[in-house]
Amino acid sequence: MKAAVVTKYGDPKVLQIQEVVKPKINDDEILIRVVATSVTAADSRIRAARFPAGFGLPARLIFGITKPRLKILGGTYSGVVEEVGDNVANFNVGDEVCGMTGIKMGSHAEYLKTRPIKSIAHKPNSVSHEDAAGMLFGGTTALSYVRDKLAVKKGDNVLVNGASGAVGTNAVQLARYFGAHVTAVTSGANRQLVKKIGAQEVIDYKQQDILKLGKKFDVVLDAVGNISIAGAKSLVGVNGRAGLVVANLVDTIRARGKIFAGPATEKSEDIKLLLSLMEQGKLITVVDSIYTINDISKAHSRVDTGKKVGNVIVTM
Ligand SMILES: NC(=O)c1ccc[n+]([C@@H]2O[C@H](COP(=O)([O-])OP(=O)(O)OC[C@H]3O[C@@H](n4cnc5c(N)ncnc54)[C@H](OP(=O)(O)O)[C@@H]3O)[C@@H](O)[C@H]2O)c1
Repeated sequence: MKAAVVTKYGDPKVLQIQEVVKPKINDDEILIRVVATSVTAADSRIRAARFPAGFGLPARLIFGITKPRLKILGGTYSGVVEEVGDNVANFNVGDEVCGMTGIKMGSHAEYLKTRPIKSIAHKPNSVSHEDAAGMLFGGTTALSYVRDKLAVKKGDNVLVNGASGAVGTNAVQLARYFGAHVTAVTSGANRQLVKKIGAQEVIDYKQQDILKLGKKFDVVLDAVGNISIAGAKSLVGVNGRAGLVVANLVDTIRARGKIFAGPATEKSEDIKLLLSLMEQGKLITVVDSIYTINDISKAHSRVDTGKKVGNVIVTM
């Protein structure tokens, strides 16, 4: 099968399209033919070995000290079940499914195998493979922060920093879905986009320093990484709380009380909820660009700019 293979850390040129062995499933696994996947901030970070401050060593212990341990990156997929192990219930050949592969990665390939017990859901017909694959990374992260860690509720005043990215576009829409009043922080170029997906107020970070707004919020979600714990505390009111999606190691360890950080979860029931919101037209996938697998290095280059708007999709 065709796959995007990475054998050393570096710029997008380290990616090579190669023929590799198609995975063979065990009795408790299914084989999925990938139709669409995405290149995410996580793929870009792992390929370049570029992690938030303090996470370099722990991340290299997981992903490989001197070179990537996993040769095929990719944490999201949408595709069709091709083979089903004897001990698998609930999934049949031909089912359209989408999901996430966690730290096993492996979705930047024509086929992947998985035990279909977590981070997977049947894809509704009305949601395209491209939109499903694009939604997963930002959608699950935003849901994990907006609903679970930050408990956003009706009437909350929510500030989303980095509102035009994969996490931000989902966070804006989900905060609105839970009844919040949303202020989006973005550059002027993305003002119309964040309004279209529901932001009621927009701050252009190039014109205004968000730490000097002189205004308190019930909830702050930072998907950029330029708000420290002290900065977050200065932005939230007495009962306020802040989520630092991109915290460095020290802030991740120190986050407690009203400050939340750390990894997001990837749960099947969350993916089902997000797909259902998409079916109902309450959540859209913002698509920055679509590349074919042969051009995956271009997709990585786009993500590396830090300027993508929403999601970079890759089709097989
Ligand atoms: N904790 C976790 O489990 C977890 C999970 C997922 C992601 N993450 C991390 O979350 C971060 C965000 O991921 P992502 O995929 O959403 O990133 P992304 O899509 O690459 O973000 C790009 C967007 O960020 C905006 N941006 C850049 N600088 C900004 C600034 N100073 N203020 C406001 N917006 C700014 C850009 O808009 P402009 O062009 O308008 O500047 C662009 O649209 C990444 O660092 C990722 O590693 C963490």
